[in-house]
Amino acid sequence: MAQSVFDFGMIGLGVMGRNLLLNMADHGFSVIGFDKDSTKTGALESAASPGTTVKGVAELATMVQLLQSPRKLMMLVPAGQPVDDVIESLIPLLEKGDVVIDGGNSHYTDTVRRVKYLREKGIHFMGMGVSGGEKGARTGPSIMPGGDKDAYEKVRPMLEAISAKVNNTPCVAYLGTEGAGHYVKMVHNGIEYSIMQLISEAYALLQYAGLDNDRLHQVFKTWNEGALQSFLIEITADIFLQKDDKTSARLLDVISDKAGSKGTGKWTSQDAMELPVAIPVIDTAVAMRTISAYKEERVEAAKIYNKPVASFNTDTETWIKQIHDALYFGVIISYAQGLAMLHQASKDLKMEIPLPEVVKVWRGGCIIRSTLLEVYMKAYSASPDLPNILLNKEVAALIENALINTRTVVAQAAQSGIAAAGIMSALGYFDAYRTERMPTNLVQAQRDYFGAHTYQRTDAPGSFHTVWGE
Ligand code: 6PG
Repeated sequence: MAQSVFDFGMIGLGVMGRNLLLNMADHGFSVIGFDKDSTKTGALESAASPGTTVKGVAELATMVQLLQSPRKLMMLVPAGQPVDDVIESLIPLLEKGDVVIDGGNSHYTDTVRRVKYLREKGIHFMGMGVSGGEKGARTGPSIMPGGDKDAYEKVRPMLEAISAKVNNTPCVAYLGTEGAGHYVKMVHNGIEYSIMQLISEAYALLQYAGLDNDRLHQVFKTWNEGALQSFLIEITADIFLQKDDKTSARLLDVISDKAGSKGTGKWTSQDAMELPVAIPVIDTAVAMRTISAYKEERVEAAKIYNKPVASFNTDTETWIKQIHDALYFGVIISYAQGLAMLHQASKDLKMEIPLPEVVKVWRGGCIIRSTLLEVYMKAYSASPDLPNILLNKEVAALIENALINTRTVVAQAAQSGIAAAGIMSALGYFDAYRTERMPTNLVQAQRDYFGAHTYQRTDAPGSFHTVWGE
């Protein structure tokens, strides 16, 4: 048998798998990748940096044999059945103590099931979120692992080496038991959907005031130098300048408005409902992608409901500042909802998710990285068990500063008939969250009236029922 010389193995050499493996090799690890497709194994080897140890093989058994014991390997294959298929083909090849990582976007319930299944065989299975896209995988992603803590310790040096760094701190940490890594990544993606939706609304609101792509570029570039500094604002500024190869137009102007999705945003909403926890801006973002697909219906509806709406009268510079603040407000609320979800899931699903570590890991490498997360990290370091970041005083001050302009933008959007459901939802959530006595006493009365569901009183403990209307 050939000598076992490799530190780490990768199953699936698509662009993410290949780039992660090359990143490991660049940090001094000897790596081997398996893919049935020989063009991919060839592409891996030819992309390796000089002096690194990188091998591609077309047989899974060969790769496993060449790994040092305990074996450490990752799969990056499409979520669902392909992950189970890989596990089945790996089982006869592995030994007790080996560590298998699923680095794809698997649903956390599948991960919990797989952890238990492989634990019975003495194999450590870890679910791990990886964010940062192709480029991030190659140069430093944000990494969200969960599962067995001892298994994490075995792969920690490698994960810390390849991850993004913020002030020399690696953007990776142990994020909780069993399916926690994939749960955190799912919520990351829910927040990603939410912020992307809010940015698209800001784009619509700025276009309404007559800003062209060049001016939009300038606005987003300036925003990226201030409180809104983040990866998504940065790439948005770039997008406005991109030229189309086929026409002389800007590429953005010839892209269809039907938005795709692979499903992690939908999972976030579904799982939030299950807990339950309220994440309405994320829900709205998922819904807007769905409405974007109703192109033909929207074309019809636009003909029916084409009455002129209230005209718009504010000076452009003021409007830009107001939209900045509304977007900032919406972004704060997006993180607040996602983090509140993690707080509750950690308790209810017994995942022990450390929120200070989550925020630390999200500061660099991932799609939702932003300056704002520095404020959140400080807040969670002081109170790791905060149920909602909106209860932190520093965050409250940021909200207060943005609030008046947010209300103006929401009112203007409503009067002018511009769809801005994400920003409106953020404000609606905030106003409900800060309401000491909500009007839901009436809902309780109605439930008891028609269904004898009982209600609680403000002045006495227990459940009560009234025969209403008599
Ligand atoms: C990341 C991204 C990544 C992917 C999303 C896109 O963190 O690197 O979130 O995982 O881009 O899955 O999701 P949709 O196709 O659903 O928009």
